[in-house]
Amino acid sequence: MTAVAQLPFEQEQPLRIAPALRALQVLGPIHRIRTATGDPAWLVTSYEEVRQLLADPRLGRSHPDPGGAARTGASALFGGPLGNYQTEDADHARMRSLLQPHFTPRLMRTLRPRVEALTTGLLDELAGTDRPADLCERLAVPLPVVVICELLGVPYADRDRFRAWTRDAADVCDRERSEQGLADLFSYGLQLVARKREEPGDDIISRLSATPGTNDSEIAALSMALLFAGHETTVAAIGTGALLLLTDSDQWQALRRDPHLIPSAVEEMLRAPGGTGGGIPRYARADLTVSGVTVRAGDLVLLDNSAANHDPAAFPNPDRFDITRPAASHLAFGHGSRYCLGAPLARIELQAVFSQLISRFPSMRLAVPPRELTFQTGVLAGGLTRLPVNW
Ligand code: HEM
Repeated sequence: MTAVAQLPFEQEQPLRIAPALRALQVLGPIHRIRTATGDPAWLVTSYEEVRQLLADPRLGRSHPDPGGAARTGASALFGGPLGNYQTEDADHARMRSLLQPHFTPRLMRTLRPRVEALTTGLLDELAGTDRPADLCERLAVPLPVVVICELLGVPYADRDRFRAWTRDAADVCDRERSEQGLADLFSYGLQLVARKREEPGDDIISRLSATPGTNDSEIAALSMALLFAGHETTVAAIGTGALLLLTDSDQWQALRRDPHLIPSAVEEMLRAPGGTGGGIPRYARADLTVSGVTVRAGDLVLLDNSAANHDPAAFPNPDRFDITRPAASHLAFGHGSRYCLGAPLARIELQAVFSQLISRFPSMRLAVPPRELTFQTGVLAGGLTRLPVNW
């Protein structure tokens, strides 16, 4: 009998799919594995099955016995089951109906010029700074943080405090730290809601506070969920996108020559980074069969969207970074009823960054060999710690 593989799998090169994950994918779409905490789970690695299961109502985020459920990690937020098993669908529908009006295509269109102006301001500062400069510190971090602050009505001056809490909350190894981070974020959210009730502004927290039938706790939880979901993921995506381009001069030059490629380049930047195994966690709400394998109600199922994005059946030659690839069908934002609410905003930010970065800094290059770059470990979104560049 062969031993069951345990997550995380080792990556031989940054941003490349882990060889053990690729090996499993070749064997079939679904595998018995152990999570980082040693708990049993199913890992789904093929594009077709991951996509189908993301839209399958027989899988959810909650569990009838949360204390006994298998876990992916220590994080209080994403390490195990989330929400109430009896009311999950209704709670989720309510969350989407409260938040969706703030992310309509029309609102997103009006946001684009502001995001572009903020990007220009950050690049002006970058141009005036000493070389080499850290692109994470100068661009990848501040842009998504200032955008989500403006959107929600969170003071930018509080960024160091709330970023420390979101990082604590996302800690995948230390449960106590993660719970404390969540508690700190929530009480900060409550303070903001109280302030917006006194002095409403033109922002999401003020508008949620004025929505009939909501209470302070619900608005604080929703707003902090947005603050949490809305920045670290985008910070990581800008950093890895820049690294992919800076380590592939052909693609950088192609984008420089033809800025019309920006939208497809952004989709490819979202698709291309390879993972270490895991992805989007779900719990089976009923027995189901996946590619001939029986998954029992209550089992943990990891829908590996990064492996799916490297499935050769969906993306030929998947390890190649190719900005002309029609990659918009990737699963980096998930799929189905929980499809990322902020995807249009993340796309606006990424498109603003890369269209301006390349035209203003056509000779930008890495200031250190790629092997010296380090990635954040132990936190959900991952991403680079620094990205030193010259120009
Ligand atoms: C490149 C950046 C981003 C990536 C890769 C990303 C990825 C994802 C993924 C994979 C999901 C699905 C989770 C699941 O199925 O359980 C998701 C959901 C979500 N995302 Fe994003 N996201 C990004 C940016 C944002 C931004 C900017 C916001 C908000 C301003 C946001 C807000 C949300 C929310 C609220 C959900 C929950 C949707 C639901 O449960 O119905 N995300 N995101």
